[in-house]
Amino acid sequence: MKLLAVTVSVGAALLVMTTATSYAAGGDAVFKKSCASCHYTDGPAKEKTIADQLAKKGPELWYAGSKFQKAWLAAWLQDPKPIRALKYNSLTDKNKGDHPKSSAADAAALTDYLMGLTSPEVKAGVIKPATTPQAKQIFNKKMPCSGCHSFPSGGEVHGGLSGPSLVGAAKRLNPDWTYAYLANIKHFKPVRDMPDFASVLNPKELEAVAAYVATFE
Ligand code: HEC
Ligand code: HEC
Repeated sequence: MKLLAVTVSVGAALLVMTTATSYAAGGDAVFKKSCASCHYTDGPAKEKTIADQLAKKGPELWYAGSKFQKAWLAAWLQDPKPIRALKYNSLTDKNKGDHPKSSAADAAALTDYLMGLTSPEVKAGVIKPATTPQAKQIFNKKMPCSGCHSFPSGGEVHGGLSGPSLVGAAKRLNPDWTYAYLANIKHFKPVRDMPDFASVLNPKELEAVAAYVATFE
């Protein structure tokens, strides 16, 4: 226990980098009891099928530590506001916004557990938030991103509803994950509703789009 406390005081970054030993006591147990029925934590996706995906009511979390920003995760678990306008894996039913809420103590333990689940596919510190004409052009015109995702623009929310909302992506998503996801989506999940852009956009274009998504407040 003493060792864990020292690790934590050295800094959150180190905690994220380390693996099993950095789990807060109990986070994995709380997850098994309250969360595992709806979320799977084993990956990567090449061992999964669409049927596996549909068998769970919530998104896969085996790379949660690569995908989410820690502060967002800890806060969201205590006060989970809808991310998707529509129910997960549905193109017709509304998201009822009834995600279970965790206590502050459980949320802290769960956050430490989930931030320890990472994917080696995500290279840290490459994508920095940036708005460029090229990225705007891709997101809004060249590619149909904005037709499926809502996003902030000029103080308003624009865009489609079939994909997760990207409003707040600046605080929710790790930009390096967004890039890795767009570049190699099949590593993360069996693809169904989100198109595979790896053969459509080149790596520089994917970087620009990931950097742009990271500016969405
Ligand atoms: C009854 C099923 C169910 C249970 C139980 C459940 N979740 Fe969820 N979870 C969902 C659904 C559905 C979503 C998608 C919510 C949305 O898009 O607004 C979700 C979303 C999430 C997300 C965001 C994932 C993403 O990719 O957007 C996290 C993190 C999460 N849940 C963690 C947990 C934790 C931790 C627990 C246990 C305390 C838990 N969930 C319990 C169904 C569930
Ligand atoms: C045909 C609709 C559609 C189009 C077009 C589309 N997406 Fe998506 N996108 C989705 C869906 C659906 C998901 C959720 C997939 C899942 O988790 O099952 C998603 C997921 C994402 C995510 C992860 C969000 C999260 O919280 O999990 C990002 C980032 C993203 N898309 C960015 C983009 C970008 C950038 C483009 C354009 C280059 C784009 N999308 C085009 C439907 C779309």
